[in-house]
Amino acid sequence: MTTIRVPATSANLGPGFDSIGIALELYLTLTIAEPRATWFIEHEMGVDVPSDEHNLIIKTALALIPDLTPHHLIMKSAIPLARGLGSSSSAIIAGIELANQLGKLDLTQYDELQIAVRLEGHPDNVAPAIYGGFVTATYDEVEADAISAPFPAARALTYIPDTELLTSASRAILPEKIPLRAAVTTSSSANVLVAAVLRGDLETAGRMMERDQFHEVYREKLVPHLEQIREKARAVGACGTYLSGAGPTVISMVPVDEADEILGELQQLPLTGQWLNLAIAPAGLLIEA
Ligand code: HSE
Repeated sequence: MTTIRVPATSANLGPGFDSIGIALELYLTLTIAEPRATWFIEHEMGVDVPSDEHNLIIKTALALIPDLTPHHLIMKSAIPLARGLGSSSSAIIAGIELANQLGKLDLTQYDELQIAVRLEGHPDNVAPAIYGGFVTATYDEVEADAISAPFPAARALTYIPDTELLTSASRAILPEKIPLRAAVTTSSSANVLVAAVLRGDLETAGRMMERDQFHEVYREKLVPHLEQIREKARAVGACGTYLSGAGPTVISMVPVDEADEILGELQQLPLTGQWLNLAIAPAGLLIEA
């Protein structure tokens, strides 16, 4: 049986709004079992996630090949829904790969990126799940391009609130226009962030992660724990803290050898969600035969 494995993603990293993301070692796996008369996807995600052809994975595969032979599928996912960790991206990419495998489409990573961005909308969300590591990406509504590079040794201390935040709600709060000065400061910080990552300079990259004025300043009111975590994280030695994707998850990037100690400190905050200590996934989409 073939198994498709897709990592979670964390987009933006502060000033890299809609253009920078990383893959995280938290996975969705999809096993393709036997053909059957109708589609059935076995999972443990509750009744809100469809088990038939209305499931996002199958819908995506059928968008590529409408007469694809139905199969029994088994999905396991550790990626929480609507938390800013790319759960829809992982499902869409699993669906594209499902069509690729069953329909023998022979898609390249570039092809999969074009399809995924058209379906999901945000290259920073989907590209890291395909390529892995640290990804810079762009989409001009016609073509998407992405470049992946290794991320410096680090751990992503990840706070996942108990409540969902839909990307649509988190985008609706953003203004149409922002002041030129804010755009210049933010895009130049994003540039330095990329250069710092390529040089393996986690400390500078982390400082740049906190210089966003494209989106976090507007989203803060939806995610009051962002400032709370950032303040504490700075005090206990984190390199940088940012809102993961459209939120509500918040990530503090920390040196590997200090991760356990910093996590212990952050867990003292009066917050009710879940903390994870994650590695950056060097690989994206993988097929295990
Ligand atoms: N860059 C996107 C955003 C990612 O922040 O809205 C979420 O899809």
